[in-house]
Amino acid sequence: MGVERKPEFFASKGIKVGIIGCGYVGLPLGLRFADEGQFVTGFDLDHAKVKKLNAGESYIQHIPAAKIKAHVDAKKFDATTDFTKLRDMDAVLICVPTPLDERREPDLSYVENTAKAIAPNLQRNQLIVLESTTYPGTTEDLVLPILEANGLRCPIARTEGPEGTKTDFYLAFSPEREDPGNKQFGLAQIPKVVGGINPPSGKAAANLYAQIVAKVVPVSSTRAAEMVKLLENIFRCVNIALVNELKQLSLRMDLDIWEVIDSAATKPFGFMPFYPGPGLGGHCIPVDPYYLSWKAREYDFATRFIELAGEINTAMPYHVVDALVGAMNEHQKSVKGSRILLLGVAYKKDVDDLRESPSLKLLELLTQRGAKLDYNDPYFPALHKMRHYDFSNMKSVELTPQNLASYDCVLIATDHTGYDYDAIVKNSKLVIDTRNATRKVKSGQEKVVHC
Ligand SMILES: NC(=O)c1ccc[n+]([C@@H]2O[C@H](COP(=O)([O-])OP(=O)(O)OC[C@H]3O[C@@H](n4cnc5c(N)ncnc54)[C@H](O)[C@@H]3O)[C@@H](O)[C@H]2O)c1
Repeated sequence: MGVERKPEFFASKGIKVGIIGCGYVGLPLGLRFADEGQFVTGFDLDHAKVKKLNAGESYIQHIPAAKIKAHVDAKKFDATTDFTKLRDMDAVLICVPTPLDERREPDLSYVENTAKAIAPNLQRNQLIVLESTTYPGTTEDLVLPILEANGLRCPIARTEGPEGTKTDFYLAFSPEREDPGNKQFGLAQIPKVVGGINPPSGKAAANLYAQIVAKVVPVSSTRAAEMVKLLENIFRCVNIALVNELKQLSLRMDLDIWEVIDSAATKPFGFMPFYPGPGLGGHCIPVDPYYLSWKAREYDFATRFIELAGEINTAMPYHVVDALVGAMNEHQKSVKGSRILLLGVAYKKDVDDLRESPSLKLLELLTQRGAKLDYNDPYFPALHKMRHYDFSNMKSVELTPQNLASYDCVLIATDHTGYDYDAIVKNSKLVIDTRNATRKVKSGQEKVVHC
């Protein structure tokens, strides 16, 4: 006989929440539940992460170790690699990666393996929620059959019949909306969209999340909740492509696109500013839209906005390299053999995350053209081997006036707040600025090329 857990149960304090995947999404989520008095266990395959968490240490720059330690000491948070402990949990939230494979197709192996790890431990009336970004249908078509394999049932139902819906366990999808480094909107302030496989599942998940966020937004199905997340990220991807294209036109027309965007943003309705850059980065925006394009093919449907946005955004590092080559040409220098310093390898400012960072593509393209490259990034003292790149021999160089002056060209790829842009422009021979980071610099603007 399992524990009696009706949907209302998940509104109570002191329940046991398991988080599978203690990364950028799972760790803050787990700590937020611990803040609200739940008992949280993080499950991860990575032994090093588990060890650090249990020692009260952090491996994500914006998550203070003190916060982890306080919860560990209060016995509100621990971590394990032992998945049999899943059976002690009341709720289990899945926060594992959903990348693209080499052919840029969805790689759902992490989600599938996680569902397989839960299945033998699944308990009656447990709540399972998938948080990983994915295409509509994943929870119903991939996760549900794996979880039901041992006999417990969670029937798909949009509405509740007069007798209610009989379900042996609860299954829902709730997309994560974490924006790492965003000081204005933390997890507690961001509304959470929740869709259940059936009404009791939706209610159970909504009750759980209502404890940690200001607002829960219920939707009619897991498929709708999956699509919400993709719409949000495709919206960003398409709008970033739009300004990236308009930036290139503006450069030809001798217009300052940032001035134009900031002025348009004064319109109090119907406009939202997006800013151009050297290309898309991060785990979400360059990846998630392709989950939908892939799924759309099953319906003989071409997602043309996604494809076009992808084309424009992918071409941006090439545009930056062309601009750099042109600017060096003006200085009667070839890229081959020149010393170039790239500033910022993180995919956006003030984060310690370089997944899909356009800076890596820039390093690769400039290396192929024979440049002698160095980089600086306060968040990355050294680079390591990654899935697509190997810059493991590179270390961040110090930003001294002498160092800056020794390079033929300084390329601002990521506009970290901590950079002293006056000093960078003052001491450099030539600055290529992909982020309009030098806009407030008073003297030396003649050395800056915006692109
Ligand atoms: N990072 C973000 O800002 C962000 C924002 C919104 C949504 N998402 C989505 O959230 C999901 C997780 O992303 P993330 O950035 O937290 O990834 P991450 O790589 O930072 O963390 C994933 C964690 O899962 C662990 N893991 C992998 N396979 C596992 C398994 N089978 N069992 C247990 N642990 C396993 C890894 O060791 C890692 O610690 C993805 O679907 C992503 O698209 C991410």
